[in-house]
Amino acid sequence: AAVDLQGVHDFLVHIAHKAGAMILTAKPVAAGSGTKKNSADLVSETDQAVERMVSASLKEKYPGFDFMGEETYQPTDTLTDTPTFIVDPIDGTTNFFHAHPYLCVSLGLAVNQKPVVGVIYNPFTRTLYTGIKGQGAYLTDPWHERVRLPLREPEAMRDLSTCVVAVEWGAEREGNDYEVKVNTFRQLCLKKEHGGAMVHGIRSLGSAELNLCSVAAGTMDVYWESGCYAWDVCAGWVILEEAGGRMVGCHPGDWEPRVEQRRYMAVRAGEGQKGIIEEVWGCVQGRIEVG
Ligand code: IPD
Repeated sequence: AAVDLQGVHDFLVHIAHKAGAMILTAKPVAAGSGTKKNSADLVSETDQAVERMVSASLKEKYPGFDFMGEETYQPTDTLTDTPTFIVDPIDGTTNFFHAHPYLCVSLGLAVNQKPVVGVIYNPFTRTLYTGIKGQGAYLTDPWHERVRLPLREPEAMRDLSTCVVAVEWGAEREGNDYEVKVNTFRQLCLKKEHGGAMVHGIRSLGSAELNLCSVAAGTMDVYWESGCYAWDVCAGWVILEEAGGRMVGCHPGDWEPRVEQRRYMAVRAGEGQKGIIEEVWGCVQGRIEVG
């Protein structure tokens, strides 16, 4: 039977607010050793507690659906065609530890391995982004009561030099992918006379999903990233596309990334999308290999 996407959306909004209340009252306490693959890959007890609450609520309400969450994921897990909730309990865990108020609860649903519902909530700024496939994307915050995204009529993108580009360092701090990132960031910023794109600016919100939502809203133009997992992009992907944005792979010619591919470029709505994608590809210095 067809999935009631509106019903899923409404339940995810309810869960997102519940998770937000948990995050607002929590003190960041490291879980176990406090880190995962290295000292820059943090995990807190709140990440784990929120995921437990979210997964228990979703399993009770939707017993036939699968669940994939950052804190319980095993490398052997694969996404199937079964409706699957894809969840990051705190996207922006580093910010959480540093009390920097940019993080979100990220709740997505994929059906046939395609993102179809996305709910992203930052409890500190009380910003809620939502999207349902085919039904648009919306922002609700203290200043807007459910406004459709993008926030304003998008201006044409003529040239990457007029863009604000989001990038993230991620937790990888050595090796090929690190070097490709560093050199690509340099190329994006470098003066045109020296062969660079000379973008207006580079931003790193510290949360993949909030970067995607900013591109969806049109407050940033591009987000280029590698190393993301499905829970870092699933919800934001729906919101981005429903706002007229486009997600492609971060390598030239790669127009159809899968939700689990781990290499992404998001570009906002507006005339000139294709040209901007090609220009960003032109700045990529090498090949990201992340598996
Ligand atoms: C991380 C953030 C970060 C991105 C990393 C993610 P987490 O998620 O989204 O911005 O660069 O790739 O892993 O660990 O805070 O949930």
